[in-house]
Amino acid sequence: MSSARLYSTAMKHIGVLTSGGDAPGMNAAIRAVVRTAIHHQIRVSAIYRGYQGLLDGDVHEMGPRSVANIIQRGGTILRTARCKEWMKPEGRARGADILKRHGIDGLVVIGGDGSFRGASKLQEEHAIPTIGVPGTIDNDIYGTDVSIGFNTALNIALESVDRLRDTAASHDRLFLVEVMGRNSGHIALNVGVAGGAEAILIPERPVDVDAVADTLAQAERRGKTSSIVVVAEGAFPGGAIALQRSIQERAGFDVRTSILGHVQRGGSPSTRDRVLASRLGYMAVEGLLNGEQGVMVGTDKRGHVFVPLDDVWENEKPIDEPLVELANILAV
Ligand code: F6P
Repeated sequence: MSSARLYSTAMKHIGVLTSGGDAPGMNAAIRAVVRTAIHHQIRVSAIYRGYQGLLDGDVHEMGPRSVANIIQRGGTILRTARCKEWMKPEGRARGADILKRHGIDGLVVIGGDGSFRGASKLQEEHAIPTIGVPGTIDNDIYGTDVSIGFNTALNIALESVDRLRDTAASHDRLFLVEVMGRNSGHIALNVGVAGGAEAILIPERPVDVDAVADTLAQAERRGKTSSIVVVAEGAFPGGAIALQRSIQERAGFDVRTSILGHVQRGGSPSTRDRVLASRLGYMAVEGLLNGEQGVMVGTDKRGHVFVPLDDVWENEKPIDEPLVELANILAV
């Protein structure tokens, strides 16, 4: 595969880091980056704890065995951190110096929007070729159909919804299930549709509690004895607990609330996430060697796509409107 392509001879040593919230499949992406680099006889170093680790000089060269037995593990072996200093030009200048001191001439950043903003600034200010790999359970990254970790998080949340439906049906209860997504409803929408939720509440649509209570009351009149409402973390001020109080005030339902929280971020990645992460990690290195920089490698119907990092963090990924409509139709 590689012989047909024109590779940059300039790039000799790449760095890889994970940043922002961890996501299942990040380890598969790290493995792919390390092994693809080694395949091309390029040195590769791990930068631990994201941009913070870079500023602390936590940089270590990797070999093919450094990433053995990690493809099945959740979290990120490189660990991750939020870094305030990276938001300032002086912090990024220090980071660029540290990269240069290590002889790192290309960087792969696995993370979400915030991480890409930092990566884009590094590229602009210090001309260090940088490429992003989308990793977040939220799937809220513009420019890619799907991000690493989303599929696993959906599976975990859906299993919980299915379990809660069993107990909801046994007790004729209404369950509010809060899933992750401070600013985005992609998890809630997909889990809600897959779990047959009676209502799905997402940050992209204002929540009208009266309308929700009314929908549930109508469902009861149509003979439903129990209901599941999937609520994204950021859909309602105060979250699902506050929503429970508001619904109880309006209707006499027996309501229980289950907050799934960080459970959705851990655990072994699904097949789909492992394959996606392996592909994107591979493509990130291939892209760097082919002169791509200041871009994220994403995936859509065409296969892989390179999208400018600025477009990625400046735009919001739209919610799947037809899926919202479908959810409403099927919830009768
Ligand atoms: O972005 C991923 C995510 O899990 C969101 O869904 C959630 O709102 C946030 O991270 C939680 O962040 P933290 O782990 O810092 O509490």
